[in-house]
Amino acid sequence: MNLLLYGAPGSGKGTQANMLRSKFGIPHIATGDMLRAEIAAGTELGRQAQPILAAGKYVSDEIMIGMIRNRLGEPDCEPGFIIDGFPRTVPQANALDTLMVELRKRFDRVIYLRVPVEELLQRLSGRLVCPQCQRTYPPNTSVCVADGSALAQREDDKPEAVRPRIEIYLEKTVPVLDHYRASGLVSEIDGRGTIDEISRQVLAAVAAPANGSTAQKAANKQQA
Ligand code: AP5
Ligand code: MG
Repeated sequence: MNLLLYGAPGSGKGTQANMLRSKFGIPHIATGDMLRAEIAAGTELGRQAQPILAAGKYVSDEIMIGMIRNRLGEPDCEPGFIIDGFPRTVPQANALDTLMVELRKRFDRVIYLRVPVEELLQRLSGRLVCPQCQRTYPPNTSVCVADGSALAQREDDKPEAVRPRIEIYLEKTVPVLDHYRASGLVSEIDGRGTIDEISRQVLAAVAAPANGSTAQKAANKQQA
């Protein structure tokens, strides 16, 4: 089972990926979480990435493609994976297509969580995150249910970074959706509603047969 979660900042990708990871027992590969782990560890990459994330901008395609290439090659990805936060640009999407062919894998579903900008702004300003395991929580939560850590605000959820994140998503990441629409693999879900309601829709979309185009089916057959 190889899944791609697509959506704007705050649309619920991480929230639904956690549910899918528990349900299917496959890794959740979140490029934002990977970058924050590099920052927390004080690596060279982390030092380069920190001001970029804080400003709500994108890390270079070259770095991100290298990161996802390394990660998807790890043995725990063999049974499947859930990607969240990649690809964010058309060059990243093209590189991922090539990588999937090399790995002889294909996506079973691309889940698009659609949420209006006003609600994104509201969610991001109130979001809390566990600094240890990166689980996300709505406002008025105090400790992580998984490890008891005190929750904190993400640096890029501060007001000065939230608007630039939405703007760069609209400019660079919206075209990525068109890239996948042609494959017939996209399930578009209205991301408003309770987390449980959205989870039910996500699971139904994952279970439904893909509406692949003839070209995609031919490409999938070639890769199989
Ligand atoms: P990343 O960490 O991926 O951030 P993002 O895409 O901006 O998405 P978020 O994590 O903010 O939101 P989410 O969709 O996961 O929502 P969540 O489930 O938390 O990336 C961070 C940065 O890293 C980027 O800005 C960039 O700098 C860099 N980066 C990462 N990947 C990159 C790439 N490929 N290329 C270049 N740069 C890259 O939910 C949000 C809140 O809403 C939570 O509080 C949650 O509890 C709540 N919520 C969830 N669902 C619901 C619901 N149904 N109703 C009400 N509230 C809900
Ligand atoms: Mg996230």
